[in-house]
Amino acid sequence: MRQATTTHIRILGYLGRALSLEYSAIQQYMTQAVLTESWGLTDAAVRFRQETVEEMQHADRIIQQMLRLGVVPNASQLNPARPARNLVDLLQHDVALEAEIVALYAEATRFCERLGDVENGEFFNTLLQEELEHARSIEDWLKSLGVPPGYREGERVYF
Ligand SMILES: [Fe+2]
Ligand SMILES: [Fe+2]
Repeated sequence: MRQATTTHIRILGYLGRALSLEYSAIQQYMTQAVLTESWGLTDAAVRFRQETVEEMQHADRIIQQMLRLGVVPNASQLNPARPARNLVDLLQHDVALEAEIVALYAEATRFCERLGDVENGEFFNTLLQEELEHARSIEDWLKSLGVPPGYREGERVYF
């Protein structure tokens, strides 16, 4: 393991926040898989389980990077999962969570570029590109449900 002293402290902070957010996403998608299954939305449940696995793979890569840098994984701020009464509302919560993750990776990437830390910059930028794609796919899913104009959260039991 490399010594943590060679890595800027803020980069270690970004990694810790990233791990917390990826774990939060795992918890959220897993909760949504269980909820949609209970509503009889089997296809949605299958997809949410796939999202869970993708987010686990992100957490795995962050842990690998932390160990490479000589720091102990220490995710400490798990967001509670945000339940809802229908699929549209669940997906709106996911759009918000993915936007938070994208913002973190974008900031971390910019910071590494300014610092000239190529290795960590590439690490965060790869995650950024994947999460941008992920955010787009969740938004497309939401659009495909044909939410009526003027829809307010919680209006229907499920779509
Ligand atoms: Fe992720
Ligand atoms: Fe994601």
